[in-house]
Amino acid sequence: MTEANGTSVSIQDLSLNFGAVSVLQTLNLDVAEGEFIVLLGPSGCGKSTLLNCIAGLLDISEGRIFIKGKNVTWEEPKDRGIGMVFQSYALYPQMTVEKNLSFGLRVAGVARDEIAKRIARAAEILQIEPLLQRKPAALSGGQRQRVAIGRALVRDVDVFLFDEPLSNLDAKLRAELRVEIKLLHRKLQNTMIYVTHDQIEAMTLADRIAVMRGGIIQQLDAPQTIYNRPVNRFVAGFLGSPAMNFLDGQVEAGPVFKTDGVSVPLDRYVFDGTERPTGACVLGIRPEHIAFGDAAKSMPFSASGSVEIVEPMGSDTLVWTKLGGRNLSFRVEAERTLRPGDPVQIGFDPVRASLFDAATGNRL
Ligand SMILES: Nc1ncnc2c1ncn2[C@@H]1O[C@H](COP(=O)(O)OP(=O)(O)OP(=O)(O)O)[C@@H](O)[C@H]1O
Ligand SMILES: [Mg+2]
Repeated sequence: MTEANGTSVSIQDLSLNFGAVSVLQTLNLDVAEGEFIVLLGPSGCGKSTLLNCIAGLLDISEGRIFIKGKNVTWEEPKDRGIGMVFQSYALYPQMTVEKNLSFGLRVAGVARDEIAKRIARAAEILQIEPLLQRKPAALSGGQRQRVAIGRALVRDVDVFLFDEPLSNLDAKLRAELRVEIKLLHRKLQNTMIYVTHDQIEAMTLADRIAVMRGGIIQQLDAPQTIYNRPVNRFVAGFLGSPAMNFLDGQVEAGPVFKTDGVSVPLDRYVFDGTERPTGACVLGIRPEHIAFGDAAKSMPFSASGSVEIVEPMGSDTLVWTKLGGRNLSFRVEAERTLRPGDPVQIGFDPVRASLFDAATGNRL
C-alpha cells in the first residue's frame, strides 16, 4: 500500500449502494504502479460506479481507497492525484482548445509559464498543436476526444481514469485512438484504469483485465490468461468474437466428456484442481481451436458431420456444423470454399478446451 511496494491504487472491501440497491459488494483491487488495468463487463455491471468511487465523485458505503499509499477515501476529487476522461468530452464550447486545456490549471492558481509548458507538452504528445486556437465545434470527434485526454494530461497526475473514452467514435477512429492511448501509456508510464465494454480494447490495451458482472470482479488476469483459461462460463462467453462454442454433457470417469453419441477424451485436459469431478458439465471450445479436414484427423478428438451454414467474414470464414446435435462453429481461411451440405471432418485437442460445472458455471 505504500509507494515502496509499487501499489498505485488499492481498493479495499469497497461497497456501494444506491439506496436499497447494492451496486458494488466488498470489492478488492490492487493496481500496480504504472499498470494499465481495464475494467470490462456488460452494461450496468458497475464499471463507471467503481471508477467514480476511485475518482471521489461518489461517496462509498463501506471500505477504503488508497492512492499512492495515502488513504483518500474521504478526500475531494481534486486532492486525489487523478485525472479523469469521460465518454462525453464535456469541453467548454465557448473556449478555444488552449483555454479548455488551461482552465483547470488557472483555477488552481498554477503559474502562467508552468501552464504554457504543460500545454505545449500535452499538445505535442497528443498532436493537437495546430488546433490550439480552434473552438470545439470546429473539431472532429477524435480531435475533441484528444483534447479531453489533454485536459487530464496537463494536470500532471499519478493515475488516469478513463470511462469509455472512445465509445462515441466510429470504428476506424476508435482503432486509431486505441493505438494512441497505448503509445501514450508507454511514453508516460502512468497508472491507468480504463473502463470499456469493448473486448478488443480490453485485450489490446490491458496489462490485466478485471472482468466484472453484477458489481463483482469475476476474474483479474492478463488478457491471454482470461482468454485461454476463463474462470467461469460467463467470462468464457464474454470474451471472444466469434464466441466460444458450448456443449452440454457429462464428465465421467476416464476422464471423458460425453454428450449424445460423442465422447471426448479428457486425459490431456488440464483440470483446475487435483480432484476429478464427475457429473453435468459444459465443454467450451473456441472456433479457432477447431481443426478441420486432414488436420482434424490427427487430433485427440475428431468427428464427422456436414456443413450447415457458412459466414464469410472477410479475413476468414466461420463455418457452422453440428456435434452431438448441437451447433458448433469453426474458422477456416477465407479461400476455402465450403458449402452447406458438404461433409466435413472436425477435431480439437482437449487441452485447448474449457470445462465448466453445469450448476455453478465454474471452471473444472
Ligand atoms: N445514481 C444512481 N442511482 C441509482 N442507481 C444507479 C445510479 N447510477 C448507476 N446506478 C445503477 O448502478 C448499476 C451500475 O451502473 P454503472 O453506471 O456503474 O454501470 P456500467 O457498468 O458503467 O454500465 P455501462 O456500460 O452501461 O456504462 C446500474 O444498474 C445502474 O442502473
Ligand atoms: Mg458506464
